[in-house]
Amino acid sequence: MNANQIREKFLAYMVAKGHVEIPSARLVPENDPTTLFTGSGMQPLIPYLMGETHPKGVRLTDSQKCFRAADIEEVGDNRHTTFFEMLGNWSLGDYFKKEQLPFFYNFLVDEVGLDPQRIYVTTFMGDEAAGVPKDDESIALWQDIFAARGLSNGIGVMGSEEAGGERGMHEGERIFVYDSAKNWWSRSGKPANMPVGEIGGPDSEFFYDFGGEHDTRYGAQCHPNCDCGRFVEVGNSVFIEYIKQADGTFAKLPQKNVDFGGGLERIAAASNENSDVFLVPELSMIIKDVEAKTGKAYAENHKAFRVIADHLRGATFIIGDGVMPSNTDQGYFVRRLIRRAVRYADMLGLPEGSFAQFARAVIAAYGARYTNLVTDAEKIVGAIEAEETKFRTTLAKGMKEFDRAIADGTLSTDDVFTLFTTYGFPYELTEELASEHGFVISRGDFDAKMGEHQALSRAGAEQKFKGGLADSSEIVVQYHTVTHLMLAGLRNVLGDHVHQAGSNITGERLRFDFTHGEKMTPEQIAAVEAYVNSAIKAQAAVSIEMMAKDAAHAAGVEGSFWEKYPDEVKVYTVKDAEGKVYSRELCGGPHVENTSTITGTFKIQKEESSSQGIRRIKAVLV
Ligand code: SER
Repeated sequence: MNANQIREKFLAYMVAKGHVEIPSARLVPENDPTTLFTGSGMQPLIPYLMGETHPKGVRLTDSQKCFRAADIEEVGDNRHTTFFEMLGNWSLGDYFKKEQLPFFYNFLVDEVGLDPQRIYVTTFMGDEAAGVPKDDESIALWQDIFAARGLSNGIGVMGSEEAGGERGMHEGERIFVYDSAKNWWSRSGKPANMPVGEIGGPDSEFFYDFGGEHDTRYGAQCHPNCDCGRFVEVGNSVFIEYIKQADGTFAKLPQKNVDFGGGLERIAAASNENSDVFLVPELSMIIKDVEAKTGKAYAENHKAFRVIADHLRGATFIIGDGVMPSNTDQGYFVRRLIRRAVRYADMLGLPEGSFAQFARAVIAAYGARYTNLVTDAEKIVGAIEAEETKFRTTLAKGMKEFDRAIADGTLSTDDVFTLFTTYGFPYELTEELASEHGFVISRGDFDAKMGEHQALSRAGAEQKFKGGLADSSEIVVQYHTVTHLMLAGLRNVLGDHVHQAGSNITGERLRFDFTHGEKMTPEQIAAVEAYVNSAIKAQAAVSIEMMAKDAAHAAGVEGSFWEKYPDEVKVYTVKDAEGKVYSRELCGGPHVENTSTITGTFKIQKEESSSQGIRRIKAVLV
């Protein structure tokens, strides 16, 4: 089975058990500044696990898009990916262990068809310091579940992972008991590591035995939590009923919750009897394409192939959630993914331009469920293509520079800095390259160097604008308001099918992509210019109001990416003294207060095709 089939099967199964399906939250968390990306299924549901009422009820199911940035450099083995989908079912103070443990077990055995002899479970042995007892209830439930199917149901008490590696598994054992490093779940790990106010609880994990020889580098004996690759965790039921107190102990939450997370691809891998998740069709299509394009074998180049497949899929999903490659925040991770993939692509001799095809393949594979990928396909593919092209042109020169830099047996911070600023090597890429050659570089020194550099360029900018010139940021704000006026003008002249598809503003010009299938005529261009210039002349005031999103939508406020905004939205209206409305649009701002402060006349310099169905305008204030 492929991942899409497993996902849809799971959701239907949980719906039949009384759950309501909810959509995946975006990869970029809303109203949660603690992490850059959604990294687990429970993250978007935290308020409800803590007691808030969920509008869809107390039994929910979903498949949550997750991205673990910390794993970027880890990708390479048969089961780790940065992007993944986590299947979820949720009891918000409704059912508990007795119902939960058979839910997923029966799904694996009866729906996916896994061999019950090869499924093993783990449970929590208690944590004295945290004051949380052993999970005897789950152990007893498991014994009954296995007995009812005529399976062995012995208990193996392991303790720590290391202890498990010494003890190993004994005949007849199917239920294994581990300490809080293994069988307790919270976003920050075991009880001792949790900050005050964080929620969590004991968990019970499912492991599938893929067979194969044990590798003694991972411990004397094999056991479910051994990392040798024989056992792979496919799901985890967390019983979230605790919250950390200021004195280090745990109090019970007002309700007992179930947070189940299942690794979609790992389940698909188990159903295919192959532990390599990169052979699941949604990833193997890229692997096969890389083989075809390079003539190289996956089996001999696991890491490079896996990096390319994983990183391209991750980048596609993150850009689909509205984040473009950049040097800051989430955008920096998109950049790192693509540039790291370029380096491996270059090593394999993959032709330039391949990434756009891989992105299209990802969109095709996932588009039925994640329709935003299809809607924004051109934007996603365009961004990936542009980033690939940009880095391909500097990579080879940068690699030469790197070789030159290490020729004397050292790699200085100045060299790392040059690779970043001149050749576009993300710090982490240089770090990886350095370690492949036996060098260690320092993040602290690099950051210090960046700090000096930024202070210098700021001073330079202040010099430039001294002499009475408007500050560049003021001009940017003017262009921002002009962009709103221009979009309103385009809709006026071309029709209501026109929406924003992308925007980029500097102190010198605006660049704007919009949905329209044909080249604009000179008359249409002149009409849009006239519209904007009349709004500038009208000395129209720009006002801000907060509106409920639905109400704003219903009132015809212009906006793209509605789903990315919170329930309450900021609406900017440009209106003159007579009450004529020039523009009314959803936006975060900032804008000028009155169009009279816009300096100059609006002029469209260029109108051209950007991609299929998207036109691009470059315009200036002269
Ligand atoms: N929160 C648990 C996990 O992320 C189960 O959903 O593994």
